[in-house]
Amino acid sequence: MLYNILRHAHSGLRWIVLILLVAAVVIAIQRLSAKNSYTDGNRKLYLFALIATHLQVTGGLLLYLIPASAGGSPKVNFDLAMDKFYRFYTVEHITTMLIAAVLVTIGYSRHKRLTDAISKHRMVAIFYGLGLLLILLAIPWPFRVAGAGWF
Ligand code: HEM
Repeated sequence: MLYNILRHAHSGLRWIVLILLVAAVVIAIQRLSAKNSYTDGNRKLYLFALIATHLQVTGGLLLYLIPASAGGSPKVNFDLAMDKFYRFYTVEHITTMLIAAVLVTIGYSRHKRLTDAISKHRMVAIFYGLGLLLILLAIPWPFRVAGAGWF
């Protein structure tokens, strides 16, 4: 029961995370190349992309850390971690996603401390861009990982 709620939330939220990160990177690159100002709307978009990423990681950690018998994911299994399928969830997915979330977090906190608009957008473009790339690589897409879904 808890597992199904967590799994569906985690699977569906990926789209919010992807949309917000793509929007943030596109806007950051656009405003950077046009030497445009830094608006309150920009700040909110970058913040919401950060929050969505953090929510996603929190849900992932719950799936990962709660034992399968208590509502965690049966796809996390340290005894079977040599098997390609279990290794993906037990090792690769979590490692890559945590690095991606750290990059997005660094991008947000550094951009916040900078003062000129161009440097702010550049910081977001680079760190959110790298984070987004890692997330795209580590999502269990149905065409890559058995049993994975689109939502
Ligand atoms: C932005 C970061 C993340 C994204 C976009 C993401 C996305 C996804 C997606 C799309 C699935 C497949 C769900 C399905 O097909 O049913 C999944 C599964 C999973 N994720 Fe993440 N994830 C992220 C971070 C994390 C982190 C940090 C952890 C662990 C700490 C984690 C743990 C898991 C686990 C255990 C599953 C398997 C769930 C199941 O039993 O079906 N995820 N993730």
